[in-house]
Amino acid sequence: MPIDSTLCPTPPMGFNTWNRFGMDINERLIQETMDALVASGLAGLGYVHLNIDDGWMAPERSASGALVPDPARFPGGIRRLADRAHGMGLKLGIYSDCGRKTCGGLPASYGHERQDAETFASWDIDYLKQDWCNIPFEDFPGLPEREVAQILYGRISEALADTKRPIILSLCNWGHGEPWEWARGIGHLWRTTGDIVDAYHRPQSGWSGDLLSIFHRNVDLDAHAGPGGWNDPDMLEVGNGGMTDEEYRTHFALWCLMAAPLLLGCDVRALSPATRAIVGNPDLIAVNQDPLGRQAKRAWHAAGVHLLVKPLADGGQAVGLFNEADAPAAADPWPHVPGAGAVRDLWTGATTSRGPVELAPHQTRVWRTAPT
Ligand code: GLA
Repeated sequence: MPIDSTLCPTPPMGFNTWNRFGMDINERLIQETMDALVASGLAGLGYVHLNIDDGWMAPERSASGALVPDPARFPGGIRRLADRAHGMGLKLGIYSDCGRKTCGGLPASYGHERQDAETFASWDIDYLKQDWCNIPFEDFPGLPEREVAQILYGRISEALADTKRPIILSLCNWGHGEPWEWARGIGHLWRTTGDIVDAYHRPQSGWSGDLLSIFHRNVDLDAHAGPGGWNDPDMLEVGNGGMTDEEYRTHFALWCLMAAPLLLGCDVRALSPATRAIVGNPDLIAVNQDPLGRQAKRAWHAAGVHLLVKPLADGGQAVGLFNEADAPAAADPWPHVPGAGAVRDLWTGATTSRGPVELAPHQTRVWRTAPT
């Protein structure tokens, strides 16, 4: 049975435990985060998925081979959390891995795909993130990683579909084997990059998870995104402390323009006003969630200034201008954007005329044009 591709008409929005809490998670954190999503108003803005990442399983499967939650961290079990989420208008997500162990070394789904899918469905889970650590490549002699990924993600995808419960499937193999070329129809989103870290740019570290390198990897994959299947440049770091507010505004604006999943990765129980204002910007969320479901196209770039244009369902466009450089920049985006008339700045709300723009280092300006 194929997946239900109507499940993800727009990019998923919510929260995931990994960026802020790593393996150090428990049921109280999940409950308090549910409460905070609702109390902060973020759930009302669309952040409804509460996704538990690595660290929830007990170190061993049960006698019958089923995954079980760690009894010390999740004494009430997962089903009870799902019921609580559903009672609050939220959805509960969970995490596993295609290999023998998760990236954190806990039991994973290889050889247990059907059993795990049935377990998750029996818990009323709404979303599964399926990771790519500890893959037994020796069981697939001579096959390239891309084909192994197609086989193993295909197995969990079919197993989930056969449960008949609508469960969003998030492929997390970091862009290995170009999942954007084949993952539509297997899952609803696919990572395009390695793991994000809470940093703007770290050229000296050799680490590719900074905001800038992730942007460069994801920005030109726009042709592959659309309703039912999304490029995933990884979860949000807004509010975790490693970037300036200007850089966090850039992070959020670029993710909205690139139709990326908006999965908060900060401590939602302790949101600063600045973080709340960034991730709660309703005009940017509307750009991300626009029903046309297009990822912005990079329409022009020069000297580290990038122009992104996202067509919208009402016939207007979202226009972003990003200065990646460490120095201020000036550019006129409008000759590259079809149409005429005033535009609205989505950070300030002000209506402005089309004209040359100055950008601070690492700044992203975003506007919405009216339908032509
Ligand atoms: C991988 C994934 C991360 C996170 C960790 C958990 O690195 O890419 O997003 O899920 O595993 O161990």
